[in-house]
Amino acid sequence: MNGGLRAPTDEDVATVARLMSEHWPEPADEALVRRTWSSPGFDLEHDARLDDSSYANVDAFGDGRVWIDVRGRPSTDIVDWAEARAREKGSRLLAGGWASNEALLHELERRRFRPIRHSHRMTINLSDPTPEPLWPEGIEVRTFRPGDERAFYETHQETFEDSWEPIEESYDEWAHWTLKPPVFVPDLWFLAIDGDEPAGVAICYPHRGASDLGWVQILGVRGPWRKRGLGRALLLHAFAEFRLRGLKRAGLGVDAESITGANRLYEQVGMHVAARFDIYEKVVP
Ligand SMILES: CC(C)(COP(=O)(O)OP(=O)(O)OC[C@H]1O[C@@H](n2cnc3c(N)ncnc32)[C@H](O)[C@@H]1OP(=O)(O)O)[C@@H](O)C(=O)NCCC(=O)NCCS
Repeated sequence: MNGGLRAPTDEDVATVARLMSEHWPEPADEALVRRTWSSPGFDLEHDARLDDSSYANVDAFGDGRVWIDVRGRPSTDIVDWAEARAREKGSRLLAGGWASNEALLHELERRRFRPIRHSHRMTINLSDPTPEPLWPEGIEVRTFRPGDERAFYETHQETFEDSWEPIEESYDEWAHWTLKPPVFVPDLWFLAIDGDEPAGVAICYPHRGASDLGWVQILGVRGPWRKRGLGRALLLHAFAEFRLRGLKRAGLGVDAESITGANRLYEQVGMHVAARFDIYEKVVP
């Protein structure tokens, strides 16, 4: 018997936002829940469940990979459901939680999920001085202009091919998550160009869950322009723009073993690890 386990409905948005916020560095809001439920391919009736203490959804993201997202205080029933549903959708089950969420991580270990990777939330206090950005020769930076949508999308997709477990996103999926508030803040979307060629992007916005926090969602530099200081300049530029808007901190998430050394770059500009997110995997026949 799945006591109380059911598919959520529109009336549960506030409850789900509350459960999604537990053990999370910043609270989730109702808009985030609605955005998740309306994302392309998401099937609320079959891919999400709710009970008294927890919420879960599962999401296939290509190559047999399925992300299991469990929030709140995980009940055995809801994790049983999530694992069974994930097995219907793929063969590599991935799940995770912040290191402070011991109940969830123990539950994953008990089910023979094994830890495979960490990511870090890194932050910097913007009252700490940082150097002026130094742009590599020939590079100019400007903010988003209407018509730049594809340049941001393509630069994001191309640069993240060099990240761990890249996710191939269609333009529509990307636009659903990125070209709308809270992420779409054109004045904080930076495009570095070399003549007419996009060289790199930084997609930033004021975090909705913490009014003092400027968030760097995406930082990507295309292969030919790497290792010339462009990533660092884009980041320092973002910090300066955050300060102009009165934001007190900057933050981002990064793979702790970034293939291209992004974590080193962030340490070099003075960011530090504020929290660790542990990722687990279970491969099923
Ligand atoms: C991470 C990333 C944005 C860095 O961009 P970048 O423009 O290469 O960054 P920088 O040039 O500022 O710094 C990268 C390295 O080049 C070095 N460098 C900078 N200028 C240099 C120069 N003129 N000559 C030689 N090396 C130089 C830096 O010291 C740094 O060295 P390190 O790797 O040993 O720490 C880019 O590699 C990328 O797009 N990666 C894939 C996407 C990704 O993972 N993004 C971050 C997700 S959070």
